[in-house]
Amino acid sequence: MTILDGKKTAADIKEEIALEVSELQDRGYKTPHLAAIIVGNDGASLTYVNAKVKACERVGFESTLLRLPEETTEEELLNEIAVLNVDNDIDGFIVQLPLPDHIDEQKVIMAVDPDKDVDGFHPTNVGKMALNLPTFISATPFGILELLDRYNVETSGKHVVVLGRSHIVGSPMSILLSQKRKVGNATVTMCHSRTKNLKEITLQADIIVAAIGIPEFLKADMVKDNVTVIDVGITRVADSTKKSGFRLVGDVAFNEVSEKSEFITPVPGGVGPMTIAMLLKNTLLACKRKSIK
Ligand code: GUN
Repeated sequence: MTILDGKKTAADIKEEIALEVSELQDRGYKTPHLAAIIVGNDGASLTYVNAKVKACERVGFESTLLRLPEETTEEELLNEIAVLNVDNDIDGFIVQLPLPDHIDEQKVIMAVDPDKDVDGFHPTNVGKMALNLPTFISATPFGILELLDRYNVETSGKHVVVLGRSHIVGSPMSILLSQKRKVGNATVTMCHSRTKNLKEITLQADIIVAAIGIPEFLKADMVKDNVTVIDVGITRVADSTKKSGFRLVGDVAFNEVSEKSEFITPVPGGVGPMTIAMLLKNTLLACKRKSIK
């Protein structure tokens, strides 16, 4: 069994990015600049956004964090987005999701200039991704592709079962892995809450991507020997033995499933750290696209 170490891989990628940033600066190009907007005080979202901003500093990017109050109106948020869209120094920006209920998420996503949409959530970028055209691939699927690539996990001709059909993970993952690309060419089955006989399907999988948000959903009796498992789940489960009061639990019962696995991602330290590294990669790409013609 080999652990797909997202923490180490993400650190490698960040080192590569930092090197490229200093090379760009030496050649007189601008420093990549990522902005992030967060609305409200959700603890998990604040943690993620702060981690993204910190990661920018570590690789030598500029970063701007816009913290807006919970009561921010949709119109006010759209105005902030319009300002970032035309700010020449900002190469890319993200609006941290979820947003408060009174704001229409889709409207917000569609207001972001696709050339600055380093989350890859805008329909223009999702469409390009689906057509296998150059674009920003959103951080989680992009991170999974990169992790599989760097560990030389064979996907061509394999049966991949994706659990979950979210716009952020399940849906793009199933599209990408079936495409004709280096990490791709798989036969993909996408399963969701209405899927019947799920265990029959997961037992046929060479690779499983679990992205349903149910702690320890995937058990050892649902997988075959030598399976590869990518665990995208990160649910906070109350744990009084932890200083924070919670621990992070994936969608996979790691201890039992790992015994049958060829490759497996841990939680934490698997897919999670990769997402930040890929956001930085997209920001660097946005900056280069704009500066180097
Ligand atoms: N919330 C959970 N994941 C993400 C992400 O990748 N980007 C943004 N903007 N919000 C998120």
